[in-house]
Amino acid sequence: MTMSVSAPPAPAPVSAGPFHRYSVHSDARHLLGLEGMTRDVLLALLEDAALEREWLRSGAPNRADLAGCSVMLAFVEDSTRTRMSFEVAARRLGANALTFNAGASSLNKGETLLDTMRLFEAMGAQLLIVRHSMSGAPAYLAQHLRATGVINAGDGMHEHPTQGLLDLLTLRDAWHGEFEGRRLAIVGDIAHSRVARSAIAGLTTLGAHVTVCGPGTLLPADVELLGCTVAPTVEDAMEGADAVMALRIQKERMEGGLLPSLVEYAREWGVNHERVALLKPDAVVMHPGPVNRGVELQAAVADSGRSVILDQVANGVAARCAVLKRCWQACREAA
Ligand code: ASP
Ligand code: CP
Repeated sequence: MTMSVSAPPAPAPVSAGPFHRYSVHSDARHLLGLEGMTRDVLLALLEDAALEREWLRSGAPNRADLAGCSVMLAFVEDSTRTRMSFEVAARRLGANALTFNAGASSLNKGETLLDTMRLFEAMGAQLLIVRHSMSGAPAYLAQHLRATGVINAGDGMHEHPTQGLLDLLTLRDAWHGEFEGRRLAIVGDIAHSRVARSAIAGLTTLGAHVTVCGPGTLLPADVELLGCTVAPTVEDAMEGADAVMALRIQKERMEGGLLPSLVEYAREWGVNHERVALLKPDAVVMHPGPVNRGVELQAAVADSGRSVILDQVANGVAARCAVLKRCWQACREAA
């Protein structure tokens, strides 16, 4: 990453754009975001994900809940854990899961995203799992495809709803099922983070509080509207919190000049042992991954007993099982 050490200019505040309005929940074939999802639906998904986790842990054979369902994994932006865990979940539930290799596709010849996804619909895909750098891309597809359910696997700076669900499941364990009165501190690049948006939407719906903090250039323009509070320093944010989530700097969504050096960033905003000591004694340390060790999170903290990063990964498979079942059931009811 190329960064200047001099003070950054004052760029226009970052906004997720108008597409964040498309987190609709009227059609359960789709999962586009957690914003606006009711408490009852959220809790039901978490309950089901917890049951799926027991089944996954038991090592029982694959099931047939999604037998006859063709799932197309369309990741038009890089991913490791989201793509792989959707694939594991779909296969464990008996779906026919196929992965679209966007980098070697006719998107590179100028074919549009919608035309490409219409091909998959014509080939019989019933669920489309979409990651895209553009906020609102999954919602756009959900509006224009005929019958295919669309699951958002991360769209630009908007939302990452299955990440939100796995984070909620992880916190449900850490907080013994009680969200009311609990507080999560989210530290880092809030402005470009779809993970933060989904976590804030889900946690506020369930009665927990979120405090965000990070460099002023990395706080979104509408931060107050998200329903969280903003702390001036990382110490203020973490003092007495019930959990902390460190976020990676989304350099792929920046035009540059938003930050001083990475060393300065780690000093000012990095989650390290001294800062973790400010949390409540039983508080956990989270990170959606991938981690840039030594930048937003000290390596020793990532590997410590407070870290639940690998629990988040395991919970991702369970949460995606619950989401796939819900969307597939709605597709069948709509058929
Ligand atoms: N993997 C998460 C995302 O795709 C977080 C990150 O990449 O930093 O949003
Ligand atoms: N947390 C997350 O979405 O990771 P990937 O980008 O590796 O899928």
